[in-house]
Amino acid sequence: MALLRAFYKYLKKRRSIAARFRLLTEVGKKLIPQYRFSWPYLDWWNDKPFNSYLQRFNELHHFNTDRKYMLYQLLRLIDDIPGDTVECGSLEGAGSYLIHLMNDQSPQHERWHHVFDSFEGLSAPGEGDGKHWEQGDLSVSMGQVRKNMDNFDRYTLYQGWIPSRFAEVQDKRIAFVHIDVDLYQPTRDAIEFFYPKMSEGGVILCDDYGSSLCPGATRAIDEYLADKTEKMLYMTCGSGFLIKGRQTALQLA
Ligand SMILES: C[S@@+](CC[C@H](N)C(=O)[O-])C[C@H]1O[C@@H](n2cnc3c(N)ncnc32)[C@H](O)[C@@H]1O
Repeated sequence: MALLRAFYKYLKKRRSIAARFRLLTEVGKKLIPQYRFSWPYLDWWNDKPFNSYLQRFNELHHFNTDRKYMLYQLLRLIDDIPGDTVECGSLEGAGSYLIHLMNDQSPQHERWHHVFDSFEGLSAPGEGDGKHWEQGDLSVSMGQVRKNMDNFDRYTLYQGWIPSRFAEVQDKRIAFVHIDVDLYQPTRDAIEFFYPKMSEGGVILCDDYGSSLCPGATRAIDEYLADKTEKMLYMTCGSGFLIKGRQTALQLA
């Protein structure tokens, strides 16, 4: 208790963000030495419409806000790209909500949004999926997702294990795919099925790419892209994307 009181007293004297940030980084260095803080001066943190979207899903102070912002920004890239949108792995529907919201602002394409999920959580992790996940993790019911999406009407929920229902969108052209299923096999199935259906300029975003909790997802994408000209652009927030038809330059060796 005395320690806490001393700490609050110390904080009171350090009101500026810069001073508090210094304290945070010093403590952080001790707790997780490899952890990298970023500057706390980011305009997107004050993006009101985006924050109210996050609030709707109780994600304002969650750890995925930067990846959601990435999703938002990439959706802006497909404004003139024909085709539907897809999410593989919806959880509560936060990603799909944002995708549909953006589709509604781009009415010239009359996009339809397709959502694939077991609604029973993850399938069984394979050997290359690490130790973090278990079958059934991240399970949200289809009813809950429908409820969260209830102000929209241009979407379909496909319940089933990926890729069992992909055939139902066999004839669709696709402008945007969000792959977010954490494991090797469904990630591989998703990129294998949707890559050939992408319009030129369309975007494939893999939320799990480069996360050390999801080694299988990263491997699935890299293996599939090995003989393609596009490679994943790995973002600092821990996700990767490609633009169909855009060759990706070599990386530092
Ligand atoms: C990380 S969550 C998705 C988060 C969501 N995209 C968002 O933006 O909030 C992973 C989802 O993938 C689904 N999933 C995982 N493996 C699957 C599989 N083999 N088939 C179908 N759905 C799967 C889970 O049910 C879960 O809803």
